[in-house]
Amino acid sequence: MDKPIGVFDSGIGGLTVVKEVIKLLPDEDIMYFGDTARVPYGIKSRETIIKFSLENTLFLLQKDVKMIVVACNTSSSLALPVIRKHFKIPLIGVIMPGAKEAVYATKNKKIGVIGTRATINSGAYEEEIKRLDSSIKVLSQACPMFVPLVEEGWSNDDITMKIAEKYLTSMKKAGVDTLILGCTHYPLLKQKIQVIMGKGVKLIDSAQQVAVEVKQVLTQEGLLRREKGRPTREYFVSDEVAIFQKIAKRFLGADLKEVRKVSNV
Ligand code: DGL
Repeated sequence: MDKPIGVFDSGIGGLTVVKEVIKLLPDEDIMYFGDTARVPYGIKSRETIIKFSLENTLFLLQKDVKMIVVACNTSSSLALPVIRKHFKIPLIGVIMPGAKEAVYATKNKKIGVIGTRATINSGAYEEEIKRLDSSIKVLSQACPMFVPLVEEGWSNDDITMKIAEKYLTSMKKAGVDTLILGCTHYPLLKQKIQVIMGKGVKLIDSAQQVAVEVKQVLTQEGLLRREKGRPTREYFVSDEVAIFQKIAKRFLGADLKEVRKVSNV
């Protein structure tokens, strides 16, 4: 029997990863869990993020998924190593794919990383980049206001442009030629960020790289879905379904009907 790919995020942002996985692997069944009752993770402590991430993993394992994608930069930065220690199932986080792509893309060996406070403070991207090439200079910047702006639907507002300019000026001045969008929400700000950074700067959308990685792992492990067509897509959240559906439309550009609220996480 074919099993679904499990994906979790602190809330809604992981849908940017789901979107890319569906694009690349349209026949796969997907089971998504968004911890909307406890979002945001980006401002919480390491212990709390690990606890929540382990609980989310257990929830998906109970649903009998074949692999788990930790589609949250904050969880991937702080909890993925701990989850790996506890579970044997194939696990993919968002840090390594994005870091790899950035190292491949940079020509001047100056990479910028933006993300939540917890992601930036963890130093996870920097560590992964340095592991791949220790001569690369990494500049990091937490952009905590981006998540609420995106969720508010203000991605294209002037106010967002002003805030983004403030966050990104020093990065631009430092001359990075590659910038990792190290948070699930940031792909929705891509256009604005590109304008501020200039055309010459390559933006790394880790969601796309994660999808590539998912395909590779499923292929290697012989876990690709055998049946073609009519895949199932199920979405679970830990809080109000209607709010998730409203914001999800912005992320996926489509209505999500199969959303259920769970209280056992
Ligand atoms: N999903 C989170 C991330 O990618 C952003 C939202 C949060 O702070 O929980 O880091």
